[in-house]
Amino acid sequence: MKLQRRSVMAGTAASLAVVGSSAWAHGYPTKPITMIVPFAAGGPTDALARVLCAKMSEHLGQQIVVENIGGAGGTIGVNKVAKSNNDGYTLLFTHMGTLAVNIALYKSLPYDSQKDLEPIGLGGTNPMVLVTKKDLPAKTFAEFQAYVKANKEKVQYGMAGIGAASHLGGLMLNSMMKVDVLEIPYKGTGPALNDLMAGQFDYMVDQAVNVLPQIGSGNIKALGVSTLKRLPQLPDVPTIDEAGLKGYEVTIWNGFFGPKGMAKEQIAKVNEALGRTLADATVSKRLTELAVELPSKDEATPEALRTQLKASIDKWVPAVKAAGVLPQ
Ligand code: MLT
Repeated sequence: MKLQRRSVMAGTAASLAVVGSSAWAHGYPTKPITMIVPFAAGGPTDALARVLCAKMSEHLGQQIVVENIGGAGGTIGVNKVAKSNNDGYTLLFTHMGTLAVNIALYKSLPYDSQKDLEPIGLGGTNPMVLVTKKDLPAKTFAEFQAYVKANKEKVQYGMAGIGAASHLGGLMLNSMMKVDVLEIPYKGTGPALNDLMAGQFDYMVDQAVNVLPQIGSGNIKALGVSTLKRLPQLPDVPTIDEAGLKGYEVTIWNGFFGPKGMAKEQIAKVNEALGRTLADATVSKRLTELAVELPSKDEATPEALRTQLKASIDKWVPAVKAAGVLPQ
């Protein structure tokens, strides 16, 4: 199944005037909103953003223009929003890697995700899948593990930069398999997936929303899922936990944020449009088919997202440090 992709138009952040945020709350939004996605087009964050933003635009009565600013595991795009005007016209859709996991992976980050951003609402939570190039000589997770261990000098795994979701999925996998293999960074797992299909590297742990269609078409192989329960979409693929790495579990939440100081009325307006979007039967059917778990009404509030962000920092920063990955 192919997700609809609209063309990316240049952002308008630079032309926005710097004004007090509350002055903009009345009648908001009166012009298009730029939604920064800190990864390349064609990947999971982009796909989810585009499905949600298309419907949210209808509810807000203004277009939401997705702008992809990839690189450095999403930190470039996140930083752009953290430093942008807080007038409600430059927002962020990103995942927990860029806001929580990367605290453990960078010696210093240009933003503080809890202080420099205003949570708006959770967009969805994604399981991940271990996928390999189609001709990797391993048909099961056990064979995969044996192959990687025997070939660790030449095996390569793909990811979307330090702190990306695919980096977290891959580093936890490699750490638990006790292998150190070469990582190939991309600006997003959209372009990485193209290279995996072309056999340019060996494996990747990516969000199901991005890889399910290609698994279905036989362009890549799925050898394990990152949740403790199998996915209904891949009933024959074992969990990585049951296949041998006890305790392996990684899921990725995605959410909407604005820059610090964005007016509460604007946050409420965008959150309301998000709530209506999540309640939309067509949107939820489409995303559920792609294994995206949509938040309940209570889980989709700005406060719930703030709590979720803190919980992810508390969980993943020590876990990544314990995996022995040194910050860059
Ligand atoms: C990631 O690994 O962080 C994501 O897959 C990024 C993306 O949306 O491309």
